[in-house]
Amino acid sequence: MADTITITDDRTGKTVTIPIEGGVFPASALRELDPSLFMYDPAYMSTAACKSEITYLDGGNGVLRYRGYPIEQLAEKSTYLEVAYLLINGELPTAEQLETWTHEVTHHTFIHENMRKRFVDGFHYDAHPMGMFISSVAALGTFYEGAKDIENPDARHRQIVRLIAKSPTLAAMAYRFSMGLPFIYPDNDLSYPANFLNMMWKIGPDYEVDPRLERAMEVLFILHADHEQNCGTTAMRVVGSSHADPYSSAAAAASALYGPLHGGANEAVVRMLADIGSKDDVPAFIDSVKNGDGRLMGFGHRVYKNYDPRATIIKQAAYDVFEVTGKNPLLDIALALEEVALEDSYFVDRKLYPNVDFYSGLIYQALGFPVDMFTVLFAIPRTVGWLAHWQELLNDPAQKISRPRQWYAGPDERDYVTIAER
Ligand code: CMC
Repeated sequence: MADTITITDDRTGKTVTIPIEGGVFPASALRELDPSLFMYDPAYMSTAACKSEITYLDGGNGVLRYRGYPIEQLAEKSTYLEVAYLLINGELPTAEQLETWTHEVTHHTFIHENMRKRFVDGFHYDAHPMGMFISSVAALGTFYEGAKDIENPDARHRQIVRLIAKSPTLAAMAYRFSMGLPFIYPDNDLSYPANFLNMMWKIGPDYEVDPRLERAMEVLFILHADHEQNCGTTAMRVVGSSHADPYSSAAAAASALYGPLHGGANEAVVRMLADIGSKDDVPAFIDSVKNGDGRLMGFGHRVYKNYDPRATIIKQAAYDVFEVTGKNPLLDIALALEEVALEDSYFVDRKLYPNVDFYSGLIYQALGFPVDMFTVLFAIPRTVGWLAHWQELLNDPAQKISRPRQWYAGPDERDYVTIAER
């Protein structure tokens, strides 16, 4: 069987035969048939908008790999900063490379004092931390002269390091501000996740990060680091394709992540579990979902038509965290929901399985994070994924400014009518 596809334009009888490579064929072949012919593909359901070497995802079989390495192995053996290096550079670092990278990131965690005093302090007292995070990321770019120097590899590297290093600082600052607590400066002697937990929770001099919680945070960061062309990463690529600076592009990506159908789902899951209230009310809730009255949040995925491999790891991590913090009372409702949904033909037929957000919110809550912070916790590690894709985009000669076409369905030409005559 030939690895080609043949398309005939029946209006003209013209035919093109094009190679299929890795299950993909170049849509540009359509232009050979007729330069004014376009494919209609809302939400890019059948469109690959780039070639990427970063993350492999097989949704049918529940497989996720970063640069070829299975997510299960990375979650078990690696650290977030090592994974960040891998995503950005394509290979795991040597001991020396990791030391240099860790030093670089660790020594860029501080933010300009004016960021906090002039910018963050201007937010309303009950501002949502994700709104604060998004705008702080964009504002951060105004502090660095080289931010716009995207053609220069050294300047690009500096911005990548800064964004990875400062995102936990911005996140913790948003939280402390919303609580009216004084800001805790980064502690460069701590690991990346421990420094974040310290900035979040330190009150007095005796606070020490529990190593089990530090590891759980590390695993959560690894699991959320990248997920190929999701909505946020696509936003990063689209904005980045106009050669906007990486801070503005990352702010756009974070805005996309904020929505409840994307990174906002972990927040929605916990609210949903709290609304259900008890295990006994699970069947009635499932019925209401089947009747079209809302969705089972934390279930379903555009690509995974199987158990999300990240959900399996997170479920285990949840138990590790609960050993330290005590069980989250919402866990029983979540387990009951999962059990009922996985047996119910509505969910089975549609291949709806728990996704990464189904259990992550329970861990975040057990760790003490308020629900409003959940999407911010997703955005911190996803920053590295956005940057890896941004870098790949800028290095890809096939890429141009993103500019899809449309199928115009509005009125034909008509004459302007004055307001008195309407
Ligand atoms: N609960 C109930 N029904 C669902 C759900 C759900 N969570 N998800 C999908 N469906 C149904 C949907 O109604 C449709 O049914 P029908 O064929 O009868 O019209 C069918 O399943 C296909 O759904 P879809 O909306 O066409 O699927 P999609 O690929 O466009 O949506 C999704 C993917 C993640 C937006 C969706 O599954 C959803 O809204 N899930 C809940 C929100 C959520 O957990 N989001 C986190 C995603 S994972 C983290 C991330 O990557 O951001």
